Parts: sequence; C-alpha cells; structure tokens
Amino acid sequence: MDSALLPAEAADAASQFDALAAGCHDLDSLMRLKGAYLGREGSHAAGLMELLKTAPKDQKRELGAAINGLKNHWETVLRTRQSELEEARKRRAAQAAGWDPDLPPPMPNRGSLHPLNRLVDRLVEVFRPLGFHVEEGPEAENEVNNFDGLNIPEDHPARGSADTFYFEAHPELLLRTHTSPVQVRVLQRLAHQLDTLGGIRFLAPGRVYRKDEIDPTHSPMFHQVEGMLVGKGIGMHHLKGTLAFAMKGLFGPGAEVRFRPSYFPFVEPGCEVDVKCPLCGGSGCRVCKGSGWVEILGAGLVHPNVLSQAGIDPTVWSGFAFGMGVERMAMMVSQTPDLRLFFENDQRFLSTMGGLD
Ligand code: PHE
Repeated sequence: MDSALLPAEAADAASQFDALAAGCHDLDSLMRLKGAYLGREGSHAAGLMELLKTAPKDQKRELGAAINGLKNHWETVLRTRQSELEEARKRRAAQAAGWDPDLPPPMPNRGSLHPLNRLVDRLVEVFRPLGFHVEEGPEAENEVNNFDGLNIPEDHPARGSADTFYFEAHPELLLRTHTSPVQVRVLQRLAHQLDTLGGIRFLAPGRVYRKDEIDPTHSPMFHQVEGMLVGKGIGMHHLKGTLAFAMKGLFGPGAEVRFRPSYFPFVEPGCEVDVKCPLCGGSGCRVCKGSGWVEILGAGLVHPNVLSQAGIDPTVWSGFAFGMGVERMAMMVSQTPDLRLFFENDQRFLSTMGGLD
C-alpha cells in the first residue's frame, strides 16, 4: 500500500520500517525484524491489535484500516527485501564458485577421440578394404621379439641402454622401440595355420619408446602403425601398390608416393617411402623443407630370417612389412609444428585439430 494513503503517524512508521528492512544485510536479521513487527505475540502488530480493541468505537474503523495498511506494507517490504537478499546470496555463491550467473549456462564439453587415435582409426579404415585386420602387442616386450626375431644383430646400437629403456627388475624386458615385434608374435602364432588361412594381413598400431630428448619433433614415447602381409609370391610391386592405394585413401586421390632404398635388418630389400608434400603439392614448403616430399614410413620385403625364425618356410612364403610414425603423419596432416602439443592435452588445441576429423 502506498504510504501516502496512510495517516501521518502510520506513514512515519512505514518509512521507519523501510529503513530497518534496508538495513538488514542477511536473511537472519530480516527474519528477526519480521518477528518483531508481525509475530503473533509481543510484536508491533500484536500491540496495534490490542490498541484497536480498546479504541473508542467511532475510531475503530479508521484505525483498523490504518493498521491493516501498515501490516500490508510491512509484508510487502519484507518479501521484496527477502528476495533481494536471496538473490545476493546466490550471486555471492556463484562468484565464489567462479562463474557469472548473468552469462548463459556453459555448454557441456563433449568428449571426443584424441587426434592421434582419430588418425589411427582412419588408417585402419583405409586398409580394411584390403583385408587387413588389427593386431596388438605389449609395450613391455622381450629382447627376442623386439630384436632377435627381427634379425637385428647382437651388436646393433639400438640394443644399447643409451637408446632403449630396460627394466632394472626385469633385465629381459624392455619398452618396445617399434611396433615390429608384433610381426614376430603374429607370425609365430599363425605359422601353423598359414596354409589354411592362405596368408596373413594385419595392422598393429601402438605406443613405442626410445631414449630421445623431447623437442618439437621428438618424444621418448610416440606411436607407430605396423603393417604386414604374408602370402605366396609377394614382391615389391605388392608393397608399392598397397601403399599407393592407402596414401590416396588418406591424403586424397592426388597423393603420390616415392620409394627410396634404405636399410632395416628385418627387410630385404628395404626402403623408405615419401609422399608428395600434401601441403604444397610438391613445390616445396616449410613442412617438406623445400624438397616437395615428406618421409612417412619404412618398409620392405620381409627378410627370410624373420620368417624362418618364426617357423615359416621362406622358400614358400614371402611378404612385405611397413612401419609408420603416427605423430609425424598427424603433424603433416594438421600442419602442427610441434609434436608436444599432442601430449599436453590442451583442449584449445585438441578441439581445433584441422585435417584430423
Ligand atoms: N620398425 C621400423 C622403425 O621403427 C620401421 C619398419 C617397419 C621398417 C617395417 C621396415 C619394415 O623405424
């Protein structure tokens, strides 16, 4: 009720009350004020009702109206002040919790696969129509699978503790330095079924470890995807056709591959494979260091010793194998200059990974 409509005395009482309510800075003191003015017993309202009872008859009507007006005014002011205080309390709690209640609610973050896993998934899809399935091997490997079974000689520098992580408590174990030991495992497992199966084709993605200092292009942990095919009469032409097909699937129909002779103990002949730089199309840029080509994998025809050590007759069976670095390929596809970004898990980077969707 508008206090101007009240008799002078009541108007005074009303504005006095307004000041008292405004002076309450928490809900407790406001509730105490409410009790003192509107409580059933001993309150101002109760006193006024007593006054009304004893008032002369001809004044009762006017006094009653004024008392009602006053009580209504108190109730309205209390309600308003109460919602102001509740609002303020919510705002303080929100600020303490670090968000602004006036902003629209944040959209929940949807999780997604890591860009490296998305690339691995894409590789698996690219090879699937060629009949390659996925195999896995342990990251803690033994020396036999990581080195001996792959025709890597006793004195090969990679075996040293300068390059490879060994386990003090388990000297026979190491952190695999490449995904190639999966070749050894799968060959051994399937050696006796080769005739029935007619051959072997698989991809083996996974983590590998080397004692490298961390820098923009090196990490002691990175990912590779191994590929292997064993059959009869397999030659370099099969390797070339398969990789050319896969790189077109990955980089688009215009992708070109180039084979350069190279050496790995577990293949003969061995090669390194480059793709025409997907960024500049071969004219030369920062990513391909001006050469127009980017090296993406090592490959070759499976060395006869690898087959025979796994119990497979190399005069009957032959095959090819390749191993590619996932980070290297991801950096190229997404134009990421520093591979550490893949491991820092900064949402801003992960959610804007161009080219890896
Ligand atoms: N394992 C080799 C490496 O890590 C890559 C490779 C795999 C080479 C298979 C030839 C055949 O560098």
